[in-house]
Amino acid sequence: MSSLLDALGTLRVAANGWSVEILDQTRLPHELAMVTLSNWQAAAEAIVTMQVRGAPLIGVTAAYGLALALHTDPSDTHLDQAASGLLHTRPTAVNLRWALETVLSQVRPLPSTERATAAYALAARLAESDRDTNHAIGVAGLEIFRSLASRKNPDEPLRVMTHCNAGALATLGWGTATAPMYLAQQAGLPIHVWVSETRPRNQGAALTAWELGQAGIPLTVIADNAAGHLMQRGLVDVVIVGADRVTSAGDAANKIGTYLKALAAHAHDIPFYVAFPGTTIDWTISDGVRQIPIEQRSAREVTHQVGRLASGARAEVALTPEGTAARNDGFDVTPARYITGLITERGICQPTTEGLRHLYPEAIR
Ligand code: MRU
Repeated sequence: MSSLLDALGTLRVAANGWSVEILDQTRLPHELAMVTLSNWQAAAEAIVTMQVRGAPLIGVTAAYGLALALHTDPSDTHLDQAASGLLHTRPTAVNLRWALETVLSQVRPLPSTERATAAYALAARLAESDRDTNHAIGVAGLEIFRSLASRKNPDEPLRVMTHCNAGALATLGWGTATAPMYLAQQAGLPIHVWVSETRPRNQGAALTAWELGQAGIPLTVIADNAAGHLMQRGLVDVVIVGADRVTSAGDAANKIGTYLKALAAHAHDIPFYVAFPGTTIDWTISDGVRQIPIEQRSAREVTHQVGRLASGARAEVALTPEGTAARNDGFDVTPARYITGLITERGICQPTTEGLRHLYPEAIR
């Protein structure tokens, strides 16, 4: 992983021991800015505005949001208010609900004097475990990379395509889809990454390009629309993406545009993998297209773009005629039949209920 990103971290507890500092992802790649969160409302706002983003990081931020709430006021009323406010920030990534439920179930039985300390300790454990989990995803994913690379000319890098940012920036370390890339680099397995820009918010162009670039992993940014063309030309060996929610049957919701890549990969017989931790599985649903809630975001993210001017100033520019209607679905669902395999911290499985249950036998049936 990039030593700069490793040193900064995406989230950390401040020197005062209770407030939380986050790397403001809305400022990347042109500016490195840390922002301090001092109450649960600030944590919720950071999630809504996507200063923090990515399913695992959203979950850990929400856990710290509850710790901040308990630091201010450990009463049940305040805890419930914070939990509800944090839960409603972003609807698609299920890690958010999981993290809130995990903290709530452990702090609620405690006396009010002990709640804040317990919540901080638990949030820290979730953060640490996310890092370890992603490393394990990387180990499993690296095996796939090795196997695909062994069928190629050893002088050529494995050509990996990814979408959005399921990277270290979206987590507490390593990322999910990027973990095998970092481990491939460490193992001396040559790879080259096609990074699709990920309109409208450009997480690929701004965030994945930044973090892989910092780490020295060879990459090329492409327009989202170029993905099918590159696959058709035989320039892609494997596609690997993250997920915000995976159903018990293996359907995967991820950033808008993922589905189109899966369709194109399927048409060209290119392996398409989804990498995620067990906390991204929603065992309560099985039909992703019908049951996963898709976040609707502001039309302005489609009609306008934020970037850096030649002067260095940050600016927003309009792309469409003034007043043009736009629709902005944040995610789409890739049905399991278009997925080659699921890469988790417990290994790789088929995108089926049986496959997932084999890896997670303790899951609710
Ligand atoms: O809207 P975002 O930027 O939070 O969406 C992020 C993604 O879709 C990621 O691929 C997903 O959360 C997995 S992050 C390891």
